[in-house]
Amino acid sequence: KKIYALIPAAGMGKRMGAGHNKQYLQLEGRPILAHTLKVFQEAPCIDGIYLVSPEAEIPFCQKDVVERYGFSKVRAVVPGGAERQHSVYNGLCAIEEAGPDDLVLIHDGVRPFVTGAILEAAAQAADRFGGCVVAVPVKDTVKVARDGIVTATPPREELWLAQTPQAFRYGMIRAAHDAAAAQGFLGTDDASLFERQGWPLHLVAGDYRNIKITTPEDMILAQAFLDHAQH
Ligand code: CTP
Ligand code: MG
Repeated sequence: KKIYALIPAAGMGKRMGAGHNKQYLQLEGRPILAHTLKVFQEAPCIDGIYLVSPEAEIPFCQKDVVERYGFSKVRAVVPGGAERQHSVYNGLCAIEEAGPDDLVLIHDGVRPFVTGAILEAAAQAADRFGGCVVAVPVKDTVKVARDGIVTATPPREELWLAQTPQAFRYGMIRAAHDAAAAQGFLGTDDASLFERQGWPLHLVAGDYRNIKITTPEDMILAQAFLDHAQH
């Protein structure tokens, strides 16, 4: 059974407001995306990587990230779409070599602190159960609100923050994406497409450090994590 990584990195980074795509912001002299790819390159369980980039940046991504840092597991750099879901779908369609029971780990290009152990655990759960999401328990109480008025306070022990990787049998996540595309359903993660097929989605323990670098303060956190790891 083969295990593929699918890494969407075709967003615009609007919430970062950096003026260019956040996946190329530097941490310790290397783009965030290179930190992320290194974990997959070095994980023995990963057979191949499919990377999704904005179409106009594919040559840059190929040369200044994939070739420059020697990410030999990258099989293709595929053009992204308008929404993350479109980018992932393009990536899934590009993994032509995958059979239905092969596994795919879908992971945000801007989550550089994922670990080899998490990749391993996610792949195992996907193989066993069909699909899983890496997640951590929420720390704060979550309120549901409409027009500034709180309408509900769901019990905290039932609430999890979805991270990536989200890992699946290829045939199942491909079917879930095909169905969402046919029905015009747009979700914010891949797991939600799997769930709406009625298939049980298993939780795998994530890590509070496995942040998605989204807003400027996340760069401060990221630097703190790097500093802490070195001492
Ligand atoms: N992504 C993608 N294609 C898109 C949108 C997002 O491949 N059309 C990727 C991003 O590059 C990122 C991951 O999906 O690696 C998570 O998305 P997010 O954190 O929302 O990144 P952006 O969409 O770039 O940021 P923003 O929403 O603030 O514009
Ligand atoms: Mg986005």
